[in-house]
Amino acid sequence: MSEPVSGATRDVAGAQKVNLAAAFAQFNEHWSPRIIGELNGQHVKLAKFQGEFVWHQHAHEDEMFLVVRGSFAMQLRDRTVSLGEGEFLIVPRGVEHRPVAAEEVWVVLFEPAGTLNTGSAGGERTVREPPRL
Ligand code: NI
Repeated sequence: MSEPVSGATRDVAGAQKVNLAAAFAQFNEHWSPRIIGELNGQHVKLAKFQGEFVWHQHAHEDEMFLVVRGSFAMQLRDRTVSLGEGEFLIVPRGVEHRPVAAEEVWVVLFEPAGTLNTGSAGGERTVREPPRL
């Protein structure tokens, strides 16, 4: 049995379109995800990456990264995947990864609600409760 998503509005008023450019314009911080939507227990998050993140993995969550503007490299232990605008990558649970962006990149993430940005690594860059836009 699935659990209701707390705080969610489940009526027709909840059917609102999202303009990604306008949403990304609402924040500037890097590595600081914002929740922009939720469906079926998943969160849709927006994040701006610049520089190197920390190596980490998620024991129980697959994580999808869709590039909206710019490009970045997803480092895996055995290879690096370069992602440009209009491209996405799903990192399966348990796979170590580290995003690296030479310049700012705008990314949409899809992952289960509650997924920590730093996964198993923890540390000071962990965002426990991303704000909602
Ligand atoms: Ni991750």
